[in-house]
Order: sequence, then C-alpha cells, then structure tokens
Amino acid sequence: MAFTKGRRRLRGRAAGAVALALALVTGGFAAAAHGQESAPLSAEDAVRAQAATLRDLADQRGLRMGTAVGSQHLNQSEYARTAAAEFNSVTHENDLKWETVEPQRGQFNWTNADRIVDFAQQNGQMVHGHTLVWHSQLPSWVANGNFSEGELLDVMDTHISTTVGRYRDDIDTWDVVNEPIGDNAQFRDSVFYRTLGEDFIAEAFRMADRADPDARLFINDYNIDGINAKSDAYYDLVRDLLAQGVPIDGIGFQGHLISGQVPSSIQQNIQRFVDLGLEVMITELDIRIQMPATQQKLEQQARDYEQVVNACYAVSGCSGVIVWGVTDAYSWVPDTFEGQGAALPIDDSYQKKPAYWAIHEALGGEPDPDPTDPPTEEPTDPPGGDCEADYRVTNEWSGGFQAEVTVTAGSDLTGWTVAWSFGGGESVSHAWNASVSSNGSSVTATDVGYNGALSAGQSTSFGFVGTHGGSVSTPQPSCTSGS
Ligand code: XIL
Repeated sequence: MAFTKGRRRLRGRAAGAVALALALVTGGFAAAAHGQESAPLSAEDAVRAQAATLRDLADQRGLRMGTAVGSQHLNQSEYARTAAAEFNSVTHENDLKWETVEPQRGQFNWTNADRIVDFAQQNGQMVHGHTLVWHSQLPSWVANGNFSEGELLDVMDTHISTTVGRYRDDIDTWDVVNEPIGDNAQFRDSVFYRTLGEDFIAEAFRMADRADPDARLFINDYNIDGINAKSDAYYDLVRDLLAQGVPIDGIGFQGHLISGQVPSSIQQNIQRFVDLGLEVMITELDIRIQMPATQQKLEQQARDYEQVVNACYAVSGCSGVIVWGVTDAYSWVPDTFEGQGAALPIDDSYQKKPAYWAIHEALGGEPDPDPTDPPTEEPTDPPGGDCEADYRVTNEWSGGFQAEVTVTAGSDLTGWTVAWSFGGGESVSHAWNASVSSNGSSVTATDVGYNGALSAGQSTSFGFVGTHGGSVSTPQPSCTSGS
C-alpha cells in the first residue's frame, strides 16, 4: 500500500511510534494491538495506568495522538506542558497556511511555523503539515491574481516546493489539498478549480511528491467522516487519482462534529478508504456542545469521542487522531459556531474532561478516576463590584486579530460600560454585540440594549476584529454599571 513506503527518516521519540504504526498498518501486529485480552491490573499498575498520558498510551500502540497548536500560545507554560505531555504529534493550527507563510508572492515568512516545528523537535513529536492548497486563508495576491493556467501552476509549485522542501527533514505527512469538494458533493469554486479544473488536485500532489518523495500526502476535508454524498464523491475522486498514478497516500477526515450526532458509519467509511490502499487519519477532531456544558452533555461528548477514536483504532490502516486544539480556552469553535463550545477533551482550565478519559480508556488506559466530578465549567460566583470584564484574544494573524470580552455582572445591571487601553498600537475595525468608540489607544464599549440587563452572576460577551502594527497586547479592562 502507498503509505508503507517505509522510507521515512525517523527521529526522536516519534520514531518508535511511527515504526510501530507502520508495523501495525502492514498487518503484523494489528491483532495484538487492537484485540489483546488484558489481565486485571494490580492497584499499583492501575495508578500507573491512570498517570499515563494519552501520548504514552498512543506511543505504546504505535498510533498518532496529535493536537493543533498555535505558536502564539507556546510561551504559556501550562499550554506548552500539556501539548508536549499529552500528544505525540502537532499540527500548525494556522501558522503554516498560505497567507501566513507566503503573504506576498515569493516572500516567505517562517517565524511562526518554525516555532512549532522547533517545539515538536524539542519534544520528540511528529508534525502533520497543514496545509498547502486551500481556498481559505489564501492571500489575495493568489485568489485575485488573474493568473493564466501556466502562471498559477508556477505559483503553486513555488509555494509547495519551497514549503515542503524547507521541512523535508521535519514533516512526514502533509495535507496537500484541503477541502476541494463542497457540501453539495461537487468541486468547490476556488481560484484553483476555476483556472485549472479538477487537475489542480493531481498537480498539487505531484509537486509535493517531487519536493519530498518520502512524505505521505493527504487530501483532507470536513463532513466526510460518515458515508454520505460528499464522502462518496471523495471515494470516486481518490480512486481516480490512484488509477492515474497520482502520488496520494492518505485521506484526512477532519472530524468537526456535533455532540450526539456522530455518524454511525465512520468505521465502515474508514474501512472503504483503507481498502483502496489509503492511510486514513482523523485530522481535526472536535465535538462541540451547545453551551452551557452540563455534566450530562460532557458525558454524551465522552461517548462521542469514544465512538470516533474506537472507529479509527479498530481499522488497521487508520493511523490515528489529531484533536483540533490543546484546550477549550483557544478552540476555534465558540468563534465559529454561535452558542457552541467545550469541544475538546481538555477544558479551558486544563482540566481533563470525561472525553479525555474516554480516549484514555479507548487507548488501553484507565477510565475516569472520579466520574462523579462536578462539571468544571459551572457558573462562577458573581464578582464583587458592579461587573467584571474578561478580555481574551481569540485569533491573531499578520496585521490583524480577533478578541472576545466577557462581561459578568456583580450586581443586577441595566447597562454596562467596559473600557481599556491598547498597548500594542491596535485599533478596533469591526465589533459585534457592543457599541465601541475609540480615542487614540483608549476604547470604550457599551451594551447594545438587548444585552444590557444582566442579573448578578450573569454573563454576556462581545467581540471585535482589529488591526495591529506588529504586536497584540492583552489589556485589563475595567467594567462599570450604566451605559
Ligand atoms: C481554523 C482555525 O482553527 C481557526 O483559528 C482559523 O481562524 C480558521 O481555520 N478546517 C481546516 C482548518 O482545515 O484549517 C480550520 O482551522 C478549521 C476547518
């Protein structure tokens, strides 16, 4: 099969994991790893098994247990410690996307991408490369460049060969083409498809293969986890690509799922792609909950995670799972899906959720040591004073950022005013759920009527996108009653 090329340069702790993964998917040890009966554990072993991290357990089984990482968080010790301890693989959540690494034609900026690759090397982790050709987070010079076919192929080749070439020794697996098919199961409209037709996919794979013939090359998308019209379209597409001899090695099911709605056909779907000769990975797993998260919802979510990871682990040829973030605190979900959140196995205070223990157990570790724990995301006591405002930067990119401010009432309010001062030359471009005015670096945000009345302990949030001149500060806002 394509992914048994076996020509990888293996490094560090990850080497053992990859070597065993290759042994597993080639068949030899599959039964031992997936179906072994185990004797009851002694009390001492049970404590040890609980202390094992997801990374330890995945390493023992030769599986990938990865996470998406943002370079802007790596200087936070709890974040970095968790990313290194719990995961044997990292993926750049945003720092390797086209708009970040080649914002202008031929001008590459590797600062943030390198930080993550360096982090992985320091911690003996694999890196899954995300992503080379995608319609989104694509700089305007590509999307609106009006290139001819030949020019666009040149642009793609420069981007792919430079990026893959740079990380030849560091990145073994790549999402070469991301999301080329839409929810209607037809090719998605993009500058690549419009200019080159569906051949842009085969071309991108050939370019990546030329830049690193040893890398395992994936196509990646969402809503293809179960058997449906869109995953059927992928099935036909990759079968055709393989028949044409295109160097494609795997398919990533992103796994952006809704709790309680995990497709029952995941395992069957994984199996059919493995049967085509492909490696399958769950590349961006998160399972979102309608907020607020209750204990019951977190337990449903744990069953959902268990279902997904077991579907992968049951098929030798599914090499592992990557979750889309280290902690709920920085997950993209609340910013993208209104009212939803708590989508990851580790919560925003780095507490292990029932979902974490479900994965732990699926990997052969112990179950939740204290399953009756109260939910960790309970409403907090009202703050002293009128109100408090908590300011959080939720996303950053070159020149811009997004922030969210949560206002929590200390006493009953009919309106609120939050004020802060930017420290990094930032300014607000567009705000929602608050009326925002600025005077130099000072900013004042007031409620917009419907969200002004809060009873003691109640919270509401507003957000904005802004620009910055190179750095993003985290101001400490004040909050007062009245607007
Ligand atoms: C998301 C990131 O998580 C966000 O921070 C960013 O604002 C948008 O992109 N499919 C993908 C990922 O392939 O790259 C996306 O990541 C989530 C959907």
